[in-house]
Amino acid sequence: MAQAERLKGKVALVTGAASGIGRATARRFADEGAIVVGTDIAVPASSEAASIVGTAGTFLPQDAASEADWSRIENEIRGRFGRLDILFNNAGTSGPADPETCTLAEWRRVMAVNLDGVFLGCRTGIALMKEKGGAIVNVSSCAAYGGFPLSVHYGASKTAVRQFTKSVALHCAAKGYGIRCNSIHPGPTMTGLMKASIARAPSEAEGRARWMAQTPIGRFAEPEEMAALVAWLVSDEATYVTGAEFVSDGGMTAGMGAG
Ligand SMILES: NC(=O)c1ccc[n+]([C@@H]2O[C@H](COP(=O)([O-])OP(=O)(O)OC[C@H]3O[C@@H](n4cnc5c(N)ncnc54)[C@H](O)[C@@H]3O)[C@@H](O)[C@H]2O)c1
Repeated sequence: MAQAERLKGKVALVTGAASGIGRATARRFADEGAIVVGTDIAVPASSEAASIVGTAGTFLPQDAASEADWSRIENEIRGRFGRLDILFNNAGTSGPADPETCTLAEWRRVMAVNLDGVFLGCRTGIALMKEKGGAIVNVSSCAAYGGFPLSVHYGASKTAVRQFTKSVALHCAAKGYGIRCNSIHPGPTMTGLMKASIARAPSEAEGRARWMAQTPIGRFAEPEEMAALVAWLVSDEATYVTGAEFVSDGGMTAGMGAG
């Protein structure tokens, strides 16, 4: 259940806000009183966008992998608000790729969105936050905790996001910026990416069963369950939390390596 006033008046940027975890989190931020700037490479129609970011919010086009797009978004936010309080680096992509057949173009695109995007996002976030402080959350994955042979680029990118998050947190702490930076590690969550993964299996039942075989709790997460975690992390209830990683995975990683 959303806590109406927890993010009141805070300016929040959410990348990949058109779908899945980003969409649910943008909505949650707006429900908790934030002024939400949602961005995505695929901008929804205006009524749909308003239902995500709320009446106080705005939705802008952005390729998270593009340095020029990050500059434009930075200028937009500086011009409109003069600051940023919350950044959710969520935009991400994946696809089938094993280490024998993955093309360099596939590898580079996933790295560009998932890793370059988080780097550029954090650099932009620091520039907009360092006067007054703020909170950054980067989306990593359970794929950061083990091999991921069917999407090798994805696993490598998410592992790097986990590590980079800690570097950002330590840098900001050392500089005294008052910027916290943490990563979240979702387990199987029913979103566009997950549906695409299931669709690659010989049948939907098999695709679902593959994921559930690794998920002790026995169901997929809803995006709103990730949004609840992120809303707490960026709120003033988590002011001592930085450089940390938050797993919400239905027990998946608890079972890794179990006999
Ligand atoms: N669904 C899961 O099980 C799961 C598990 C772990 C981590 N994640 C991560 O969660 C994040 C959100 O994914 P999701 O599962 O909600 O999937 P989703 O496909 O529903 O949403 C991803 C959104 O990102 C946008 N996007 C893709 N490339 C972009 C780009 N270059 N620039 C801007 N926007 C872009 C898409 O248009 C889409 O709206 C991703 O980083 C993903 O890796 C998801």
